Amino acid sequence: MVANIFCSPINREKGEVEVQNPYLPYPVRIDEITTETEDKNLKTFKLVFINPEDEEKFNYQAGQFAELSVAGKGEIPIGIASSPTEKGFLMFTVNKVGLVTSYLHNMKAGDIMGVRGPLGNWYPWDIMEGKNIVIIGGGFAFTTLRSSIIYMLDPANRPKFKDIHVIYGARTPGMLLYRDELAEWEKRDDINMHITVDATDDPSWKYNIGFVPTITDQKAPPGNPDTYAIVCGPPIMIKFTQPVLDTLDYSHDHIIMSLEMRMKCGIGICGRCNIGKEYVCKDGPVFTLDQLNNMPKEY
Ligand SMILES: Cc1cc2nc3c(=O)[nH]c(=O)nc-3n(C[C@H](O)[C@H](O)[C@H](O)COP(=O)(O)OP(=O)(O)OC[C@H]3O[C@@H](n4cnc5c(N)ncnc54)[C@H](O)[C@@H]3O)c2cc1C
Ligand code: FES
Repeated sequence: MVANIFCSPINREKGEVEVQNPYLPYPVRIDEITTETEDKNLKTFKLVFINPEDEEKFNYQAGQFAELSVAGKGEIPIGIASSPTEKGFLMFTVNKVGLVTSYLHNMKAGDIMGVRGPLGNWYPWDIMEGKNIVIIGGGFAFTTLRSSIIYMLDPANRPKFKDIHVIYGARTPGMLLYRDELAEWEKRDDINMHITVDATDDPSWKYNIGFVPTITDQKAPPGNPDTYAIVCGPPIMIKFTQPVLDTLDYSHDHIIMSLEMRMKCGIGICGRCNIGKEYVCKDGPVFTLDQLNNMPKEY
């Protein structure tokens, strides 16, 4: 076993008892870095646990997040982009905005960093079994939606869901994430893909042009008790998509969203992320629109 760079290993022969410290990250090695977008601001990090037993402890569900830690720089909450059905690695897609994300973007394959989690709740997979699922995403918030799509398309899980629709938009074709996978999903007949861009003058672009709310209006199935919508994206997208879902008759307990508040501990202790009495890191980040409507508008 390789020693955890962030703590001393437990010596069981000396009778030391392992007490799980919730602030301790698991050490991971960067296995691969993929630049996703033409502006080079979004990179996907494929991480491998240094101690294989840590992978078993990191038992996550699609929709959860983790704290990524860079020694001496800090920790940041990032949605888990890999699916629990993908074994042997974790994936995170990180937008370069400030101190830690910039440092992470300069790291190389082989470098060691930390992952703490999994944290937060997840999309309600048990409640959504047997239902139609409409995924609506924009920008880099598509990360946990990728996790969800891979999870649902896994042969063991696909029979558990009825129709799957994905409405995913970016500013331009070059700003779409996971382009190879989008192309693969486009070819399948067990998922309905509706990819869109705000604008493009690329004559080879063969998908939709228009904002996510417009494409939702045109392509999303009508709301009914058998259909759930999972919506993740920038606030402006959410603001204009919600009235469309209202027009399509989606009830607010069938619209599921994930919040990206400022966070520190990620485990409901520091009080950095609370909205009213809810801790977004622990009670969320996933909430139904019904729940959000009953919370103070602090998000
Ligand atoms: C549950 C959750 C999931 C997230 N998932 C992803 C993801 O999959 N990919 C991704 O790229 N980012 C994600 N974020 C946002 C990410 O945590 C921030 O961008 C990151 O913490 C910025 O760190 P920094 O040190 O580089 O920025 P800083 O130097 O701290 O700040 C730089 C800029 O980023 C803004 N910022 C800082 N923290 C946040 C935050 N939590 N949310 C939004 N803006 C922030 C600041 O206002 C400032 O403008 C997620 C946040 C949460 C809470
Ligand atoms: S981030 Fe500390 S309580 Fe939520």
